[in-house]
Amino acid sequence: MQLRVVVDQPWDVAADVLAVPFAGDLRLEGPLAEIDKRADGELAALYALGELKAERYGTAMAAGGQLRAGRLLAMSAGDAAGVSRQVVLRIGSAIERRLAGRSVRTLAIWLGDLGHLIDGGEEAAAELLARGVVEGEFEPATIYRPDYKNAPPALDELILVAPGADRAALTKAAERGVIVGEGANLARRLDNRAANDVSPEVLAGEARAIAERHGLFIDVIEPARAAELGMGMFLAVGSGSDNPPRMIVLRSGEEGASDAAGRRLAIVGKGVCFDSGGISIKPAAQMEEMKMDKTGACTVIAAIATVARLAPGTPMLAIAPTVENMPGPHSARPGDIVKAMNGKTVDIVNTDAEGRLILGDAMCYAEKLGATHLVDIATLTGAVARALGDQMTGAFGSPQTWYDTVAAAGERAGERYWQLPFIDEYRKDLDSWYADFTNTGSADGGLVKSALFLREFATVPWVHLDIAGTGYFRKKTAYAPAGATGVAHATLVELALSGAK
Ligand code: BES
Ligand code: MN
Ligand code: ZN
Repeated sequence: MQLRVVVDQPWDVAADVLAVPFAGDLRLEGPLAEIDKRADGELAALYALGELKAERYGTAMAAGGQLRAGRLLAMSAGDAAGVSRQVVLRIGSAIERRLAGRSVRTLAIWLGDLGHLIDGGEEAAAELLARGVVEGEFEPATIYRPDYKNAPPALDELILVAPGADRAALTKAAERGVIVGEGANLARRLDNRAANDVSPEVLAGEARAIAERHGLFIDVIEPARAAELGMGMFLAVGSGSDNPPRMIVLRSGEEGASDAAGRRLAIVGKGVCFDSGGISIKPAAQMEEMKMDKTGACTVIAAIATVARLAPGTPMLAIAPTVENMPGPHSARPGDIVKAMNGKTVDIVNTDAEGRLILGDAMCYAEKLGATHLVDIATLTGAVARALGDQMTGAFGSPQTWYDTVAAAGERAGERYWQLPFIDEYRKDLDSWYADFTNTGSADGGLVKSALFLREFATVPWVHLDIAGTGYFRKKTAYAPAGATGVAHATLVELALSGAK
């Protein structure tokens, strides 16, 4: 897709479709009045009819009339006060998805008021719209059906229309948006793939190809070496499957180097290619969704690749402990006691609480490699989805300054997080008869307890993002299909780039 920023008036831009966002009630003043006039009053007529509604992502398509574009697509941004960076991002996606199955080669989007409604102004709007369009192009139905007909159109050209703007600055911002969007789509394309297609070794192979493409260092740790390193929790989870586990380690920058913020950042992503629950097997209902339990791994692999495109050589690590959690004669059993890489003993009372086991060893390994700051990302608990649903990621962190740094990156990325507390009183619920602790307590407060468990494996500033609710959508929306959302990819990229030279 070619990207072009033009500073002409929207009615002077030639394209198959000109998209026109508007906030609040449709008021035909200024440029919108001129657009409506040239479209023979179609906007006003569709609005009066109720075909075009002033509710967020509401749309209507009209003939272009005297506009140079063939068609006019109006889209509501909803009430102006509610227009956030995330809404601008989603407007880009919703415009692209509204055109699914249509023959559109060139799409122009007029920025309208969007730049005035968010921090960062028109540059931010250009970046977010471009990223949104690219993310909107993603269609999971094409992964196994390349001839699928109703995908959002593969555009030849996206034209952002910002009369009077700084063309060079907007172009740069929009190009960044395209790259971030492509990275999210890379994560989503891996993430949506089925467990009979993507085993730990296949995911490691994908990571190798990505590393080669972007000049990243890669190390894939196989079981024998994991045993030497003392990764007893990781190996216990991986032992139940014929597809052996892989600890995928990617690095950009020189070994041991700090970034411009003085950090050695490691992002750690849960890579459970399928989570049956193991011996503590899950009920059948929706078990098929557990191929998405590798979302965190796909996200960190894509995020380090995106950073490599935007700021090559930025020091950082991405670590993805990758396993299949399966029942079988070699599986860990409830009550098995294993030793973690940091020497702590763990009583695996529930084999379905596997994510925290593999993450704990991966976090220890990140620190062994010199990480000074950690962020882990995982589809860790059903509890976070019950608490916050699919729109807000649950997050924990300590110390607060590091949490705030990650949250600020999330803000810039247009993603939403809700900070949850470590409640120290619940730690004793993880007490074991034999070991230092168990991997689950009673269900009450299970979300907090999952973070208390992980905290046992961090000795440096650390943030935990639980994306079990936000990592994939069960139903499509105006701005995204069902399936992997790519959530938090942009946050991790923003965070790493805050340490770029
Ligand atoms: N992968 C699941 C969490 C999950 C649930 C992700 C629903 C996406 C949607 C995780 O491994 C798990 O099984 N968690 C258990 C923990 C429990 C056994 C303490 C859960 O949430 O029920
Ligand atoms: Mn599980
Ligand atoms: Zn899981």
